[in-house]
Amino acid sequence: MKLSFSNKPNKDSVCIYPIFHKTRPSNNALAALLPHLARNGEFKPKKSRIFYLFGKVKKLPAKLILLGMGKISKLKAVDVLEAFAVATKAAAAHKPTKISVISTEDLLPFAEIVAESLCLSNYNAAIYKTGKEAQKIKKRSLCEFEIVGTGNDKTVQAKMKKGFEIAEIVNNARDWVNAPPNFGNSIFFEEKAKEIAKSIGANLTILRKKEITKLGMGALLGVNRGSRDEPRLIILDYAPKGVDEKSQPIVFVGKGLLFDSGGYNLKPSGHIEDMNTDKAGAVAIFGLMKALQKLNLKHRVVGITPFTENLIGKDAVKPSEILKAYNGKTIEITNTDAEGRLVLADAIAYAIDKFKPKYLIDLATLTGACISALGNRYAGLFSNDKNLAMLLRRSGNEVDELLWPLPMHKDYDKKTKGDFADLKNADNSTERYAGASKGAAFLKEFVGKTRWAHLDIAGPAHVSDPKVYERKGATGFGIRVLARFLEKLE
Ligand code: BES
Ligand code: ZN
Ligand code: ZN
Repeated sequence: MKLSFSNKPNKDSVCIYPIFHKTRPSNNALAALLPHLARNGEFKPKKSRIFYLFGKVKKLPAKLILLGMGKISKLKAVDVLEAFAVATKAAAAHKPTKISVISTEDLLPFAEIVAESLCLSNYNAAIYKTGKEAQKIKKRSLCEFEIVGTGNDKTVQAKMKKGFEIAEIVNNARDWVNAPPNFGNSIFFEEKAKEIAKSIGANLTILRKKEITKLGMGALLGVNRGSRDEPRLIILDYAPKGVDEKSQPIVFVGKGLLFDSGGYNLKPSGHIEDMNTDKAGAVAIFGLMKALQKLNLKHRVVGITPFTENLIGKDAVKPSEILKAYNGKTIEITNTDAEGRLVLADAIAYAIDKFKPKYLIDLATLTGACISALGNRYAGLFSNDKNLAMLLRRSGNEVDELLWPLPMHKDYDKKTKGDFADLKNADNSTERYAGASKGAAFLKEFVGKTRWAHLDIAGPAHVSDPKVYERKGATGFGIRVLARFLEKLE
């Protein structure tokens, strides 16, 4: 996909023309036509309404799509995201080589999100198809977007370019999250980490089984025991120009379960099929790291991602086993399906020990309970720091990756205490209740006093009922909100 800027729309393109309620478009012929369309009941500029106006308007391409935007004063990020996605889909159906978008002044505050919407909604997921269908998909993704009417305003153009590039990273992350475990294995992600490190100039450390064992990460090793492939702990460390490489970093930790079968607490049919996407947290951190160069950053940023599968087999961890984590705490395995908190426990404890982060934020498809509570519109947000939580929520609202605060409480902390060991990984007395909060309570045991937030993204990371700018499967959730958060951070 490509994005370019021009002063006049390409005459062969399909052209999207956003129309606001009671605002006169700058094209006179179109301005004259709108009242007629409204009177005939053909088109009113309500949010996300479109109208095909083919071969009729002077100075505009023959294939024109009017896009209703509603009232300017009421416009929100989500409206812009949705509207341009609806129009892009409509335009793409005509198989153009170029889609032109008329940029009006009213849209300028949303420049970044307009570009994001174009790119996100033109994502094609089916990269494993072959033959004719594959060619069709390939052709579609060659489509070029042209923004018309930003004149020589370089700041707006830079914003659009940035939005488009970040959305491309999100689309790419969708592919990585969707990758089936026979493609998206630990070697695949090791290669990707190398590419990212090279492209942004980050320091890369890859810890393999030998080092992980030496460091005493018994929880990660325990989860990995049923798997043929060895675990990895991948660390990307990036300091932007002018920022001390040894300064206190913001550390992000992402759950990288390449496949979560549940282990001996095996998931049943209907719950196991999409567990290839249980690495969405780690992939979002990869995406975020990839995007860092495009952001206006004041901090060193470190991304830590533990990767493993959770399988069964003669070596696999069994319920009742006791594992010892990096920080020396012992954990009784009461449910092998609560594996995310185990790999995160080691990664978080290590992150704090090694990097003394200014903030630590973890991202994980941690609990089905969080989906029961919030569905896929919101990620669950837990934090021990009010300001951090507020900043994250605000960032989420701005890019429409929404976060909703869920409670932490000492009663949930109690449920993590083991009968035989320091901790247990799942509460088997009141198992189904407050599962997301109990997951967070377990992680808290490894955080200590560090300012921390935990985002349970089990809901929004993966959808079966996609929005217009999504496809079935992975959404790439997390990259845009965290990128915005980093830019806001003083
Ligand atoms: N990966 C799952 C959580 C999940 C479920 C993500 C559905 C996306 C969709 C996680 O490892 C898990 O299985 N959690 C258990 C925890 C329980 C055993 C305490 C759960 O939510 O049931
Ligand atoms: Zn699980
Ligand atoms: Zn899992």
